[in-house]
Amino acid sequence: MARVAIVTGGTRGIGAAISKALAADGHKVVANYAGNEEAAAKFNAETGIPVIKFDVADPVSSAEGIAKIEAEHGPIDIVVNNAGITRDATFHRLSYEQWSQVLRTNLDSVFNVTRPVIEGLRARGWGRIINISSINGQKGQAGQTNYSAAKAGIIGFTKALAQENASKGITANVIAPGYIDTEMVAAVPEDVLKKIIATIPTGRLGRADEIAATVSFLASEKASFFNGSVLTVNGAQYIANG
Ligand code: CAA
Repeated sequence: MARVAIVTGGTRGIGAAISKALAADGHKVVANYAGNEEAAAKFNAETGIPVIKFDVADPVSSAEGIAKIEAEHGPIDIVVNNAGITRDATFHRLSYEQWSQVLRTNLDSVFNVTRPVIEGLRARGWGRIINISSINGQKGQAGQTNYSAAKAGIIGFTKALAQENASKGITANVIAPGYIDTEMVAAVPEDVLKKIIATIPTGRLGRADEIAATVSFLASEKASFFNGSVLTVNGAQYIANG
C-alpha cells in the first residue's frame, strides 16, 4: 500500500538512497533538506521526489514543515529520522556550540519531527518510525562525544517509543549504520579513515543503498513484528547486542 513518507536529510548521502528506495516501493516520499539548495534541486530533478526545506533542529520550523507536507500530500505514515551532522573534536577541545549543534540536529530533531506526527499515527492505527543512529552511538568513538551521545540517545528514545505505541499498530526501530561511503565519512582525515577501514572485517565501507534496503524492509508490512529493534548494518565492525 502506498503511504506518505518523510525522510529528513533526504536529498543527500544515506537519506537520498532512502528516499529513492521508498519511492521505488511505491510510497509518496517527501525529502527534507536543511540548506544545500543545489543538492536538493539536483536530487529533485533526477528523481522527481518533492523536496522541502526546513530546519529539523528547530521545533517551530519542523512543525510548520510537517503541516505543509500533510496539507499537500496527506497524512504522514512513515517517518525516517535520518538528518545528521558531525562536528568532530576531542572532548578537551569541544566547544559548547559543537556540542549543541550536533545534539540539536541529530537528537532534538527526532522529537521535533516525530512529535507532530505521532498523534495522527495513533489515531489511524498504523505507523512506521525509523531512526538512523550509528555504530558510534553503540560503541562510542574518540572525537565524537557529541555525536555518540546524540546517536545513543536515539536508541533509548526509540525503545521507549516502541513500547508506548506498539498497541496502536506503530513500530519504532533503529538502524545503526557503520561507516558508509558518503560525504560525511569522506570528511574524516584520510590517514584516520584508512585505520578505521582496517577494523571493518568486511574490508570495505558500506553503501547507502544497503541502509536504504533496511529502511525499505522496516517500512513494509513484513516488518510489523520488528519493534524497538536496533538493526546493526556495519560489516561486522562492531557486534552489538541491541
Ligand atoms: N582512539 C583513541 N584516542 C584517540 C583517537 C582514537 N581513535 N583519536 C584521537 N585520540 C586521542 C589521541 O590519542 C590524542 O591523545 P593525546 O594527546 O593524549 O596523545 C588526542 O586524541 C588527540 O587529540 P587532538 O584533538 O589533538 O586530535 P586531532 O586534532 O588530531 O583530531 C579527531 C582528533 C578529531 C578525533 C580525529 O582523529 C578524527 O576526526 N577522527 C575521526 C572521528 C570519526 O571516526 N568520525 C566519524 C565521522 S563519520 C560518521 O560519524 C558517520 C558514522 O555514523 C559512522
